[in-house]
Amino acid sequence: MKIDGRHYRTIFPAPDGEGICVIDQTRLPFAFETKTLRSEAEAAVAIRTMIVRGAPLIGATAAYGLALAMREDPSDGNLDGARARLAATRPTAINLRWALDRVASMLHPLASGEREAAAFAEAARIADEDVASCRAIGEHGAALIAGIAARTSRPVNVLTHCNAGWLATVDWGTALAPIYVAHDSGVAVHVWVDETRPRNQGAALTAFELNAHGVPHTVIADNAGGHLMQHGQVDLCIVGSDRTTSTGDVCNKIGTYLKALAARDCGVPFYAALPFSTIDWTLTDGVTGIPIEERDAREVTHLTGRTDDGAIATVAVVSPGSPVANPAFDVTPARLVTGIITERGVAEATPEGLLGLYPERRAAA
Ligand code: MRU
Repeated sequence: MKIDGRHYRTIFPAPDGEGICVIDQTRLPFAFETKTLRSEAEAAVAIRTMIVRGAPLIGATAAYGLALAMREDPSDGNLDGARARLAATRPTAINLRWALDRVASMLHPLASGEREAAAFAEAARIADEDVASCRAIGEHGAALIAGIAARTSRPVNVLTHCNAGWLATVDWGTALAPIYVAHDSGVAVHVWVDETRPRNQGAALTAFELNAHGVPHTVIADNAGGHLMQHGQVDLCIVGSDRTTSTGDVCNKIGTYLKALAARDCGVPFYAALPFSTIDWTLTDGVTGIPIEERDAREVTHLTGRTDDGAIATVAVVSPGSPVANPAFDVTPARLVTGIITERGVAEATPEGLLGLYPERRAAA
């Protein structure tokens, strides 16, 4: 996507060949800065501290992290150790493990001297494939938006939660890709952007992206969506996912489930947009099977923002001493999901629906 007229991916080789550049998402929306990761340890810190975040992007970063580890020490011991260390950075998004498994299984049979170059090449392929998948998700999802646009004379109102845009992937995004493709092809779209407490990825990142791309949007408090749906102001919801089961249960940023409940009550279609790397074919029950990341209480107790005089400040917003819980994700059961938008088309959120798009998984099912 373009920032100030220059096209960026969220992750790309450093110009000096000495590392991998990422956009520091902890600095957005107030500063657009890139950061160079020069070691496996720096890649792990970037994922853990959410300098990079979003399921497909942390997968691509982990793949490059393994490549950086192979540059440091291409032995079997370090390959297995780095894979385990990177896998431990965040527990919920399956893309992280998918990317590490893919790179590690490709590297294992190779001689140690071949591993660095092969790992960087495989990480680059993962990044390129993610861009292609997200673009295809955009095409399939845009057809849904265009279908609604054909039946109305006003902009199509899409509600989204968290940030599943290009910042969460290598480019284009998952939930936002259909919006970009529809907007770019002349379909009038307006996006309701959930602020997405506690880290505010909607208010900070999704709004930043939509502003940069010129897509009409409105930021709302997380609790506003149900009211808007009751009053006919939401035509459809599209969210991303960090892990989706083979049965169509969708795990995404905390609060997604409540939007799906409100959507069902109001008859609003609720879609999840995700690439194949987000599907966990080993799980049939997302509520009991998907590990939910518990993040630092400080994300709930404190807010960081820019003061009127331009300084970045962090302030406490919770009564001191009160206990805090911070589960970062929840699971929307398949029964509440109208469809899953993938790079291969739109599937019903059922085992048969997903296997219909991924018939090569039938043998394993
Ligand atoms: O905790 P985050 O910011 O990594 O969570 C991101 C999300 O929940 C996104 O919706 C999800 O990763 C989909 S990314 C295309």
